[in-house]
Amino acid sequence: MYTPELEEQVRQWAEARVPAKRWAHVCGVVEAADQLARRYAPTQVLQARLAGWIHDAAKSLDDETLLQTARAYDWPIIEIERQVPDLLHGAVGYLLANEEFQFDDPQLASACTYHTTGAPNMASLDKVVLLADLIEPTRHYPNVERLRALCQLDLDAALLFSMDFTLAYLIERHRLIDTRAVDCRNQLLAAGVHYES
Ligand SMILES: [Fe+2]
Ligand SMILES: [Fe+2]
Repeated sequence: MYTPELEEQVRQWAEARVPAKRWAHVCGVVEAADQLARRYAPTQVLQARLAGWIHDAAKSLDDETLLQTARAYDWPIIEIERQVPDLLHGAVGYLLANEEFQFDDPQLASACTYHTTGAPNMASLDKVVLLADLIEPTRHYPNVERLRALCQLDLDAALLFSMDFTLAYLIERHRLIDTRAVDCRNQLLAAGVHYES
Protein backbone atom coordinates (compact mmCIF):
# COMPACT_ATOMS: atom_id res chain seq x y z
CA MET A 1 0.00 0.00 0.00
CA TYR A 2 2.99 2.31 0.46
CA THR A 3 5.04 3.36 -2.56
CA PRO A 4 8.45 5.00 -3.04
CA GLU A 5 6.58 7.99 -4.51
CA LEU A 6 4.64 8.43 -1.26
CA GLU A 7 7.87 8.03 0.69
CA GLU A 8 9.42 10.86 -1.31
CA GLN A 9 6.46 13.11 -0.48
CA VAL A 10 6.79 12.22 3.21
CA ARG A 11 10.55 12.87 3.08
CA GLN A 12 9.94 16.36 1.69
CA TRP A 13 7.19 17.03 4.24
CA ALA A 14 9.56 16.02 7.07
CA GLU A 15 12.52 17.99 5.72
CA ALA A 16 10.39 21.14 5.85
CA ARG A 17 9.76 20.54 9.58
CA VAL A 18 13.11 19.35 10.87
CA PRO A 19 15.84 21.90 11.63
CA ALA A 20 18.91 21.51 9.40
CA LYS A 21 21.06 20.43 12.36
CA ARG A 22 18.76 17.45 13.06
CA TRP A 23 18.26 16.41 9.43
CA ALA A 24 21.39 14.21 9.25
CA HIS A 25 20.04 12.33 12.29
CA VAL A 26 16.68 11.77 10.59
CA CYS A 27 18.33 10.53 7.38
CA GLY A 28 20.52 8.22 9.49
CA VAL A 29 17.46 6.80 11.27
CA VAL A 30 15.80 6.04 7.93
CA GLU A 31 18.88 4.13 6.72
CA ALA A 32 19.36 2.28 10.02
CA ALA A 33 15.63 1.44 10.18
CA ASP A 34 15.78 0.16 6.60
CA GLN A 35 18.67 -2.16 7.44
CA LEU A 36 17.15 -3.44 10.69
CA ALA A 37 13.73 -3.93 9.06
CA ARG A 38 15.23 -6.01 6.22
CA ARG A 39 16.40 -8.42 8.85
CA TYR A 40 13.77 -8.23 11.61
CA ALA A 41 10.58 -6.98 9.89
CA PRO A 42 11.13 -7.77 6.21
CA THR A 43 7.55 -7.09 5.12
CA GLN A 44 7.63 -3.64 6.74
CA VAL A 45 10.70 -1.96 5.27
CA LEU A 46 8.71 0.93 3.78
CA GLN A 47 6.81 1.45 7.04
CA ALA A 48 10.14 1.52 8.88
CA ARG A 49 11.47 4.14 6.45
CA LEU A 50 8.27 6.23 6.77
CA ALA A 51 8.51 6.08 10.57
CA GLY A 52 12.12 7.22 10.26
CA TRP A 53 11.14 10.29 8.28
CA ILE A 54 8.24 11.12 10.60
CA HIS A 55 9.58 10.22 14.06
CA ASP A 56 11.15 13.60 14.94
CA ALA A 57 8.98 15.86 12.73
CA ALA A 58 7.47 17.43 15.87
CA LYS A 59 10.69 17.45 17.91
CA SER A 60 11.18 21.22 17.62
CA LEU A 61 7.65 22.12 18.74
CA ASP A 62 7.40 23.77 22.15
CA ASP A 63 5.73 22.04 25.10
CA GLU A 64 2.43 23.90 24.84
CA THR A 65 2.13 23.21 21.09
CA LEU A 66 2.82 19.51 21.66
CA LEU A 67 0.09 19.33 24.31
CA GLN A 68 -2.37 21.40 22.26
CA THR A 69 -1.83 19.31 19.14
CA ALA A 70 -2.29 16.03 21.01
CA ARG A 71 -5.51 17.41 22.54
CA ALA A 72 -6.74 18.64 19.15
CA TYR A 73 -6.55 15.06 17.81
CA ASP A 74 -8.02 13.52 20.99
CA TRP A 75 -4.73 11.73 21.56
CA PRO A 76 -4.69 10.34 25.13
CA ILE A 77 -2.16 12.26 27.25
CA ILE A 78 -0.75 10.54 30.33
CA GLU A 79 0.50 12.24 33.47
CA ILE A 80 4.21 12.08 32.69
CA GLU A 81 3.53 13.61 29.26
CA ARG A 82 1.94 16.59 31.02
CA GLN A 83 5.12 16.90 33.10
CA VAL A 84 7.51 16.22 30.20
CA PRO A 85 5.61 17.16 27.00
CA ASP A 86 8.66 16.33 24.84
CA LEU A 87 7.65 12.68 25.37
CA LEU A 88 4.75 13.43 22.99
CA HIS A 89 6.94 14.42 20.04
CA GLY A 90 6.76 11.01 18.35
CA ALA A 91 2.98 10.76 18.61
CA VAL A 92 2.49 14.36 17.51
CA GLY A 93 4.83 13.83 14.55
CA TYR A 94 2.60 10.94 13.46
CA LEU A 95 -0.60 12.95 14.02
CA LEU A 96 0.66 15.83 11.87
CA ALA A 97 1.88 13.48 9.13
CA ASN A 98 -1.41 11.59 9.28
CA GLU A 99 -3.32 14.84 8.80
CA GLU A 100 -1.35 15.39 5.60
CA PHE A 101 -1.19 11.83 4.21
CA GLN A 102 -4.14 9.96 5.85
CA PHE A 103 -2.09 6.88 6.72
CA ASP A 104 -4.51 5.75 9.44
CA ASP A 105 -1.93 3.07 10.17
CA PRO A 106 -1.79 1.90 13.82
CA GLN A 107 1.57 0.19 13.22
CA LEU A 108 3.13 3.39 11.92
CA ALA A 109 1.52 5.34 14.78
CA SER A 110 2.93 2.93 17.35
CA ALA A 111 6.45 2.96 15.87
CA CYS A 112 6.53 6.77 15.96
CA THR A 113 4.89 7.01 19.39
CA TYR A 114 7.19 4.60 21.23
CA HIS A 115 10.52 5.52 19.65
CA THR A 116 11.47 7.58 22.72
CA THR A 117 10.31 5.50 25.68
CA GLY A 118 9.64 1.99 24.51
CA ALA A 119 6.64 0.09 25.84
CA PRO A 120 5.73 -3.45 26.83
CA ASN A 121 4.81 -5.86 24.03
CA MET A 122 6.36 -3.79 21.27
CA ALA A 123 5.99 -5.00 17.71
CA SER A 124 9.12 -5.72 15.67
CA LEU A 125 8.57 -2.47 13.75
CA ASP A 126 8.50 -0.50 17.03
CA LYS A 127 11.78 -2.09 18.15
CA VAL A 128 13.40 -1.44 14.78
CA VAL A 129 12.56 2.27 14.88
CA LEU A 130 13.53 2.78 18.54
CA LEU A 131 16.90 1.07 17.99
CA ALA A 132 17.53 2.77 14.64
CA ASP A 133 17.10 6.08 16.48
CA LEU A 134 19.87 5.05 18.89
CA ILE A 135 22.39 3.48 16.47
CA GLU A 136 22.18 5.69 13.36
CA PRO A 137 25.63 6.78 12.14
CA THR A 138 25.66 10.30 13.62
CA ARG A 139 25.15 8.95 17.18
CA HIS A 140 28.20 9.06 19.44
CA TYR A 141 27.98 7.95 23.08
CA PRO A 142 29.80 5.37 25.20
CA ASN A 143 27.47 2.39 24.59
CA VAL A 144 26.72 2.94 20.91
CA GLU A 145 29.21 0.49 19.41
CA ARG A 146 28.06 -2.26 21.73
CA LEU A 147 24.43 -1.50 20.90
CA ARG A 148 25.21 -1.59 17.15
CA ALA A 149 26.81 -5.01 17.59
CA LEU A 150 23.88 -6.34 19.65
CA CYS A 151 21.43 -5.12 16.98
CA GLN A 152 23.14 -7.46 14.52
CA LEU A 153 22.79 -10.41 16.91
CA ASP A 154 19.47 -10.16 18.72
CA LEU A 155 16.92 -7.35 18.54
CA ASP A 156 15.41 -8.07 21.97
CA ALA A 157 18.80 -8.22 23.68
CA ALA A 158 19.66 -4.90 22.02
CA LEU A 159 16.38 -3.42 23.25
CA LEU A 160 17.06 -4.62 26.81
CA PHE A 161 20.57 -3.15 26.72
CA SER A 162 19.19 0.16 25.45
CA MET A 163 16.61 0.26 28.26
CA ASP A 164 19.31 -0.55 30.85
CA PHE A 165 21.63 2.28 29.84
CA THR A 166 18.83 4.77 29.16
CA LEU A 167 17.25 4.20 32.58
CA ALA A 168 20.68 4.34 34.28
CA TYR A 169 21.34 7.65 32.48
CA LEU A 170 18.01 9.11 33.67
CA ILE A 171 18.60 7.97 37.26
CA GLU A 172 22.14 9.42 37.34
CA ARG A 173 20.74 12.77 36.23
CA HIS A 174 17.75 12.68 38.63
CA ARG A 175 15.36 12.83 35.70
CA LEU A 176 11.76 11.60 35.64
CA ILE A 177 11.26 8.10 34.24
CA ASP A 178 8.38 7.14 31.99
CA THR A 179 7.05 3.89 33.45
CA ARG A 180 6.46 2.55 29.93
CA ALA A 181 10.25 2.16 29.69
CA VAL A 182 10.30 0.27 32.99
CA ASP A 183 7.40 -1.91 31.81
CA CYS A 184 9.25 -2.56 28.55
CA ARG A 185 12.35 -3.68 30.45
CA ASN A 186 10.37 -5.80 32.94
CA GLN A 187 8.59 -7.58 30.11
CA LEU A 188 11.87 -8.38 28.32
CA LEU A 189 13.37 -9.75 31.55
CA ALA A 190 10.24 -11.82 32.25
CA ALA A 191 10.55 -13.27 28.73
CA GLY A 192 14.10 -14.40 29.51
CA VAL A 193 15.85 -11.88 27.28
CA HIS A 194 19.47 -11.27 28.29
CA TYR A 195 22.85 -10.17 26.99
CA GLU A 196 26.38 -10.80 28.19
CA SER A 197 27.43 -8.08 30.64
FE1 LIG B 1 12.78 11.54 18.93
FE1 LIG C 1 15.30 10.74 16.61
